[in-house]
Amino acid sequence: MVDSTGKTAADEVHRTPDGVDDRTAATLTIAGRMASAALAAIDPGPDDTVLIGGAAGGVGVFAVQLARIAGARVIGTGSATSADCLRVLGAEPVVHGEGLADRVRALAPGGATAVLDLHGVETVRVAREIGVPDSRICTIAAQVDGVTAANGANAAPGALEEIAGLVAAGRLRVPIAATFPIDEIRRAAELQAGRHVQGKIVIDL
Ligand SMILES: NC(=O)c1ccc[n+]([C@@H]2O[C@H](COP(=O)([O-])OP(=O)(O)OC[C@H]3O[C@@H](n4cnc5c(N)ncnc54)[C@H](OP(=O)(O)O)[C@@H]3O)[C@@H](O)[C@H]2O)c1
Repeated sequence: MVDSTGKTAADEVHRTPDGVDDRTAATLTIAGRMASAALAAIDPGPDDTVLIGGAAGGVGVFAVQLARIAGARVIGTGSATSADCLRVLGAEPVVHGEGLADRVRALAPGGATAVLDLHGVETVRVAREIGVPDSRICTIAAQVDGVTAANGANAAPGALEEIAGLVAAGRLRVPIAATFPIDEIRRAAELQAGRHVQGKIVIDL
């Protein structure tokens, strides 16, 4: 199995972990480790309210659940159509776009204490607007001066095994939005490029 980013981690081959199905296993190496690396940059804990931009996407579904497992309250941005998906993952949904800062303040009058922007720069801008220090903001889809940009390749050793263990234990689930046979990979890429996928797309080999 490869995941739909096309990053097959050619130099990495992993056995599908016990208790994890093949399709789910295919999602862990890239998206799971990216979420783990991004969270490590902000180190959420039980005293945190974490705002996650693009929370229902392939990386977001891991980030939301890992932050919840770390004990944090999570507010996740998405379209109205992603609200149910976000709730199931454990996040409080908030619609992205104009007025986001006010909507976050309404949900969390004390503000967020840490922020991941998984989509662009809007959530970084809002984080600064509501007073989150740059040291507790992390991006993965844009470069912003003063803010850490995470890279899944820098995830902690053992991150993949930890996530696989959580999946096997039923504590973390990966929504599979769609699967495609390899000869329909173009359709998969087009769907992913639309940037409104909830969870992961998997290509069957
Ligand atoms: N997926 C991976 O395995 C992976 C791995 C490493 C790096 N990356 C990179 O990480 C970034 C995120 O990738 P991804 O696959 O998680 O998601 P994505 O495909 O880039 O975006 C999908 C998510 O973004 C949300 N979204 C759409 N428009 C938005 C907006 N204006 N503001 C905030 N959120 C918005 C969507 O929610 P709604 O539909 O509800 O709007 C959806 O949940 C990308 O730059 C990607 O290249 C991805």
